[in-house]
Amino acid sequence: MTNLSVNLNKIALLRNTRNIGIPSVTKAAKICIEAGAEGITVHPRPDRRHIRPSDVYELAEILTVEFNIEGNPFEPPFMEIVRDVKPTQCTLVPDSPNTFTSDKGWNLTEDTQKLIPIIQELKNLGIRVSLFMDADITQIQLVPETGAERVELYTEPYATAFRENKNLDSVFQEYADAAKKAQELGLGINAGHDLNLENLGKFCTIPNILEVSIGHALTAEALEMGLFNTVKEYLKILSNK
Ligand code: PXP
Repeated sequence: MTNLSVNLNKIALLRNTRNIGIPSVTKAAKICIEAGAEGITVHPRPDRRHIRPSDVYELAEILTVEFNIEGNPFEPPFMEIVRDVKPTQCTLVPDSPNTFTSDKGWNLTEDTQKLIPIIQELKNLGIRVSLFMDADITQIQLVPETGAERVELYTEPYATAFRENKNLDSVFQEYADAAKKAQELGLGINAGHDLNLENLGKFCTIPNILEVSIGHALTAEALEMGLFNTVKEYLKILSNK
């Protein structure tokens, strides 16, 4: 069984285009939980372009499921927020402040020593730590030294291979091998980025994926799957005038 953690960044992005609070991030979280999602993920970026610190605090008040906060621990105010909120899990991501979206895993050849005290602090707060990693066995082998308990495999290259039907078998095998290595090292495995209704099933044939976090495609699919009924509701009002 793989848990679904719904990433609400794109709900916040849409909300931020007006000042009237819709769509509501907390309402979206409640709907996801009611539908059975086992977790909620947010990525409060320094430029606040989608999730704002206030969203994180408001979600912390209402969540009844696992809370996963992603971000770069070296970019304020990430650590300040997680010290306050103490989520179930922090997924540490090496993204630069203005990056479009997370686009690579950690390079532990360079970053292990600076991550060790951060990860220790988070674990002391009772927060599970996951590191965003490429499907690269050489890098995965370095994770235990950091103290992190899980890896989140960066699945964009898999999603691209799936979409373009190009090198899919070999790319999929890299993920299966990376997951196997992580398990041999005693690490839990999460996965995320560009997963969707089409490519998720194949990905989850990799054994023991504990959690997938999905936002962009899920939000787009929710719009598509909800648009028909919503238009019908508007037409009902207009036809009763
Ligand atoms: N994992 C990380 C570290 C991310 O930054 C994101 C995007 O915010 C995701 C997973 C989810 O990716 P997507 O929005 O493509 O589902």
